[in-house]
Amino acid sequence: MINGFSAYAQNTVTIPIESKQNALVLQTDKDKHLGIIYFGKKLSNANEYQSVPLQSRQSDSNAGIYNSVYTPAGSWNISEPALQVTHSDGNKSLDLVYVSHKTVNENDNVTLTSIVLKDPVYAVEVTLFYKTYVQENVTEQWSVIRNAEKGPVMLQKYASANLYLIAKDYFLTHYNGSWAREMNPEEEQLTAGIRVLDSKLGTRANLFQPPSFSVSFDKPATETEGKVLLGTLAWSGNFRMDFEVDSYHNLRLIAGINNYASEYPLNANQEFKTPSFIYTFSENGKGEASRNLHNWARKYRILDGEGSRLTLLNNWEATYFDFNEEKLSGLFKDGKKLGVDLFLLDDGWFANKYPRNSDQAGLGDWQENVKKLPHGIGYLVKEAKNAGIKFGIWVEPEMVNPKSELYEKHPDWVIKQPQRPEHYMRNQLPLDLSNPEVQNFVFGILDKLFTENPEIAYIKWDCNAITFNAYSAYLEKSKQKQSQLYVDYVKGLYKVLEKLRAKYPKVPMMLCSGGGGRVDYEALKYFTEFWPSDNTDPLERIFMQWEYSYFFPALAQSAHVTDWGKQPLKFRTDVAMMGKLGYDIVVSHLNEKDLQFSQQAVSTYNSIKDVVWHGDLYRLVDPKKNDFASLMFASKNKEKAVLFSYLTGNRNGDGSDVPFRLQGLDPAKKYKVKELNLYPETKTVIQENQTYSGEFLMTVGFNPAVNARRTSVIVEISAAQ
Ligand code: DGJ
Repeated sequence: MINGFSAYAQNTVTIPIESKQNALVLQTDKDKHLGIIYFGKKLSNANEYQSVPLQSRQSDSNAGIYNSVYTPAGSWNISEPALQVTHSDGNKSLDLVYVSHKTVNENDNVTLTSIVLKDPVYAVEVTLFYKTYVQENVTEQWSVIRNAEKGPVMLQKYASANLYLIAKDYFLTHYNGSWAREMNPEEEQLTAGIRVLDSKLGTRANLFQPPSFSVSFDKPATETEGKVLLGTLAWSGNFRMDFEVDSYHNLRLIAGINNYASEYPLNANQEFKTPSFIYTFSENGKGEASRNLHNWARKYRILDGEGSRLTLLNNWEATYFDFNEEKLSGLFKDGKKLGVDLFLLDDGWFANKYPRNSDQAGLGDWQENVKKLPHGIGYLVKEAKNAGIKFGIWVEPEMVNPKSELYEKHPDWVIKQPQRPEHYMRNQLPLDLSNPEVQNFVFGILDKLFTENPEIAYIKWDCNAITFNAYSAYLEKSKQKQSQLYVDYVKGLYKVLEKLRAKYPKVPMMLCSGGGGRVDYEALKYFTEFWPSDNTDPLERIFMQWEYSYFFPALAQSAHVTDWGKQPLKFRTDVAMMGKLGYDIVVSHLNEKDLQFSQQAVSTYNSIKDVVWHGDLYRLVDPKKNDFASLMFASKNKEKAVLFSYLTGNRNGDGSDVPFRLQGLDPAKKYKVKELNLYPETKTVIQENQTYSGEFLMTVGFNPAVNARRTSVIVEISAAQ
């Protein structure tokens, strides 16, 4: 992709920011405005980037308006801004010129380029940061805006990144959803004008839309072909992404915090650091692009991303709010019988004045319910230990039911408009995390649990309501601006998580928001995994997990076997096994064969989990375009792979009647194939006495024989010794 405006050929400063495969190249024009002159495949000789602008035959009458590296608002540049401010004297104009830049190698693989821009008239300075993870071809980009004026500057729009991308056409894949319907993809060709993806929901920001997308260039990319950028904003709050096809038919991309109702004051000498926009680019399709992101996420982002995970038995769907010590002790034993690592106690264990026996009351009152748990959490931890299983617990510390002691005691801790009726989602309201007292309270809930029960081995952190009636009594009292609330809430949340991780660095935590209402790479610094959806119907999960997998590796996607859906237990289990396996069923209701199968499945999972969690993912057969789905994980050393296939169609003859090509193997190696996770007393139809070369499996292909009689099939492919 080349861009060119002849003004950029003046060549004062050229800044290439390169990963192993890609380059983003910036250059100053004669007025020292910094623009993007190239984004795409890296050249072997970096000196040649200077000549990129010479290749342009586009008129330059709008030079630098569109391809600004960080578009300022209100002066000569009149296109959609990345940064818009009101100065302390009320003036709304901004210009940004290049001052300096430097690149520091943080280590063998990570470089940080920082570029200082400055307004020539007003004392506002911006530093753009580009952190490049070279081998992974991932860039993390953010900016720091500094107010060196004497009085406060108001930030009206303050994006994280501003990119300029050039191709013949652009195909944007974005996602919509709602509760139990997460990650429905839509691909559209972008046309002239601005397409906005955004959220204004506050706390449960991703309920309708996640901050993740892909853009293919020239034509829709496939898994193995085409130019594609995967992007995601690391921010657990309102986001906004502008995709503007400009009058040259080039693509401007501006991503950051949503400025909706969020003008943000910056006092004299203060800085504002934007969240990171994270992206990768591949010329070889979406498969490679998502493997880039997975490699990066495991190594650099997700808490303990290269480590291990715990299989678990959760009681949510098994009991809902109806349990007591005796019942739970039985479930600990059931978990042990199943063979999982941990028992996870879900919602309903707390509150006394307004007991948490439904979702109508009690949220906020984090004392054990004495009727259900007369001996407290400590007793449960011990009981679980006696049963030979670890113990984890659910919390939803950011929220409150109006029917709670917390609400009665601290009505000013609650986000609500003082003059308007309260508006609820799931009968609850968010607490005001912009308030340091509330931050301490939220931290205190977890701290108390851990201090009193150091053996708690897992936390599920839920968040079930969006933010209606955004108003903070704290901001009002402390004479701050109400428009800070959406941003300060998220900053408050991160402060709590930071403090928690400083004291409890390792305990695994699941990021949950009534399902996938909060899934982003800033939160995942503190969490080991996320809950993709309350919808655990395995057929639905095949599609959802497929879409999440563009951005997030399997070890971060919790997937539980439940009673949702009409599929047999084997199918449900096989689907959960392509993520981080858990169970949410009544084990004692399983018949003998189902129990035997499930016990075997947990042990089979233990034998393949390393490949699923740490291997390379290849999506092979897309269920959106076929009547079955198939994907595989291959170990980095290509010694072992696991192939998962699921029938998704229900018409006569649906299934894999011809082989399809595998990927990620060594063409020169010989492989054995073995079907895993067979239901008791069933036999495989796969010829297991045969070995195949990697070349064969990746050229002729393989047929797992998925069909109406074999609706889900797991095949282990291992190098023959
Ligand atoms: C919503 C979560 O997504 C569920 O898994 C469960 O934890 C409930 N909340 C509990 O209230």
